[in-house]
Amino acid sequence: MNPESISNDPQLDASGKLIHLLGLKGLPKTELEHILDVANDLLDSKGNLKKSKALDDMSVANLFFEPSTRTRNTFEIAAKRTSANTINVDLANSATKKNETLMDTMQTLKAMQIDMFVIRHKESGLPHRIASNIDGVSIINAGDGTNAHPTQALLDMLTIRQHKGSFDDLSVAIIGDIRHSRVAHSDIQALSTLGVKDIRLVAPENLQFNGEAPEGVRCFDNLHEGINGVDVMMTLRLQKERMMSADIPNEQVYFETFGLTDKKLKLAKPDAIVMHPGPVNRGIELDSGVADGPQSVILQQVTNGIAVRMAVMVVLAGKA
Ligand code: NCD
Repeated sequence: MNPESISNDPQLDASGKLIHLLGLKGLPKTELEHILDVANDLLDSKGNLKKSKALDDMSVANLFFEPSTRTRNTFEIAAKRTSANTINVDLANSATKKNETLMDTMQTLKAMQIDMFVIRHKESGLPHRIASNIDGVSIINAGDGTNAHPTQALLDMLTIRQHKGSFDDLSVAIIGDIRHSRVAHSDIQALSTLGVKDIRLVAPENLQFNGEAPEGVRCFDNLHEGINGVDVMMTLRLQKERMMSADIPNEQVYFETFGLTDKKLKLAKPDAIVMHPGPVNRGIELDSGVADGPQSVILQQVTNGIAVRMAVMVVLAGKA
C-alpha cells in the first residue's frame, strides 16, 4: 500500500478548516506548521508541558482496539491537560462484544455528548469511514492498520524541529520495517510536506516500502550507505504481528545488518539524533548504548507526544 493511500477527504471542511485528523496526506504545510507551533507554545523553555483550559467544555473518548501504552496514555494525559473530560472506552467489555455495530456504538457515545473520538484500529481506513458516517464530532486517527499514524509523525516533526531548527537542508533516514509501519508512512508524508529533500528508506528488501517509493525518496538495503552523513535516524520496530511468517527476519542477523550501535552511529553526522516511536526492542533495532546514549531523543519524543496531541485537540476544537 502507498503511504496514506486512503483518502483523507473528510478531514478538511469546505472552508479548509481541520475538522478531523485522519492522515497527513492533503494537509497543507501551513496547517502542519500551525499544529507544531501550537504544540511548541504548550511547552515551556525547558521542554516541560504547560496546562491549558482550552477544552474545559469538551469530552474526549479513547477507543483503542489494538494494544497501546504510550499513544493511549499520552492522549488521555493530553485531554486532561487541556481540561477536557476524558473516558477510555472499555472495549473488552463493550457492546461491540454483544454484536452491536461499531457505528451504533459510536452514535451511542455521541449521544453521551462526546465531542472527539481518538481511534486506533487494525483496519486501515476505519477512522476515515467513521468520520464519513458520523456528523458533528471530530475523529483523531491514533493508528489505522499499516496506513497512517498522523500524531506520531507530528510529534516526530516537533522533535526534529527542536533539534535541527529547519527542515530545508536535512538528510533523514528511516530505518527498519517500513513496509508494515504506519509511522513510516506518515513520517514520509510529513517530511515531504515540510520540504526535506533527502529522505532515505533503509530496510531489507522484504520490509522495504511496498510499491514505488514516493518521488524524491531513495531506498537503501545497506545501513552503512543509508545513514552516511544523515542528520536524523528514525528507527522502527520489527512489527512481527503484521508479517507473514516467511518475512520475519532472524533477529540476530537483523541486528547485525540494520541494528544501530555506537560504532555505526559514527557514519552519520556527529550531531545526528536517533529516534524511535516505541516500543523499542533493545538488541534488535538498536543496542542499549544507543537507546540510552546522548544522541537518543526517544524519551523527548514521548513528552512531545503529549504536547502535539494537546495541540491537535485544541486546533480541532477551533481554539487555536
Ligand atoms: C507505533 C504504532 O503503534 O504504530 N507505536 C506507537 O504508536 N508509539 C509503532 C509500533 O508499534 O512499532
